[in-house]
Amino acid sequence: MHAAVLHALGQAPRYEEFADPVAGDGEALVDVLAASLKPIDKQLASGTHYAKPRQLPCICGTDGVGRLSDGSRVFFGGCRPPYGAMAQRTVVPRAYCFPVDDVVDDATAAALPNPGISAWLTLSARAKLVAGENVLILGATGVTGRLAVSIAKLLGAARVVAAGRNPQVLSSLLRVGADATIQLDVPAAELTEAFAREAGASGFQVVIDYLWGAPTEAFVAAITRKEFAAVTSEIRLVQVGESAGPTISLPAAALRSTPLTIMGTAGIPSRELLVDAMHQVMAHAATGDLRIETERVPLTEVESAWQREGGRRLVVVP
Ligand SMILES: NC(=O)c1ccc[n+]([C@@H]2O[C@H](COP(=O)([O-])OP(=O)(O)OC[C@H]3O[C@@H](n4cnc5c(N)ncnc54)[C@H](OP(=O)(O)O)[C@@H]3O)[C@@H](O)[C@H]2O)c1
Repeated sequence: MHAAVLHALGQAPRYEEFADPVAGDGEALVDVLAASLKPIDKQLASGTHYAKPRQLPCICGTDGVGRLSDGSRVFFGGCRPPYGAMAQRTVVPRAYCFPVDDVVDDATAAALPNPGISAWLTLSARAKLVAGENVLILGATGVTGRLAVSIAKLLGAARVVAAGRNPQVLSSLLRVGADATIQLDVPAAELTEAFAREAGASGFQVVIDYLWGAPTEAFVAAITRKEFAAVTSEIRLVQVGESAGPTISLPAAALRSTPLTIMGTAGIPSRELLVDAMHQVMAHAATGDLRIETERVPLTEVESAWQREGGRRLVVVP
């Protein structure tokens, strides 16, 4: 079969022949229809992700949509290394195959679940967003951040503030759920002031962070008190991505002067949570409440597509 084959960490995968997978107990063979090209696929191939491949050569791609031997169409994840989603065929645990409704096209079915389910579960299961709370999305102009803005509103957030760099995308977010926006690429002191201003008297109860690095440091500076103050509502910050940097400097005073809790996404959620989130995300996609822009790229062009940045989510088609 043909596949996107990675030979060394830090390189782009090449379109090449690779031996076909054989399914073991509890596994399913999938004829791949489409696989999305996401930041995590690039982080794994570059060797910067904690779960980087230990066995090379391997096939890139963490999830996608395809057909099982009984003809059913499923979204799949968890390919067994060295196999991956960007190939004509792959092998996955049966437990990580989720039926997809016929009304959803292949590109959407491949591209939406990863960022959509992640944003849904980050807001509902990790941050435990309660209707009426205020939400800040750090990195709202990315594919996942844009969905998080809409999902926060669908889950009943009172006020959603979208922070990002791209001014066109920021202003478009005002039409899909954002109540206000914050421009991130300004001097640190100005950014800290903007966070404090948008927090207002009622503050943020939930912060979803796709950036880390300097923007998160500016946010922490904005909520750090400079006097003894009575405890206000808790701020639950969920660390999801590191587009702006892998580390932050965290002053101890930030944690002592404010009721700030920092948590991560904490691994793969249970199958029950995944199934429920998949159902919710796909139902909102069918009604048009959740949208993702996609662009199909033939598997033969995966090497050149690898370097492309931002905008629409690329979907590799074998
Ligand atoms: N753990 C999970 O479940 C999970 C799920 C989905 C995503 N993520 C992670 O979340 C992050 C974003 O994912 P995505 O799908 O939204 O990616 P994406 O569509 O490629 O968007 C990347 C985002 O990062 C921003 N960015 C890049 N460098 C930046 C910098 N130096 N300063 C400020 N902003 C910067 C971009 O801003 P511009 O628009 O201004 O370029 C854009 O908003 C990635 O790290 C991804 O791995 C994690």
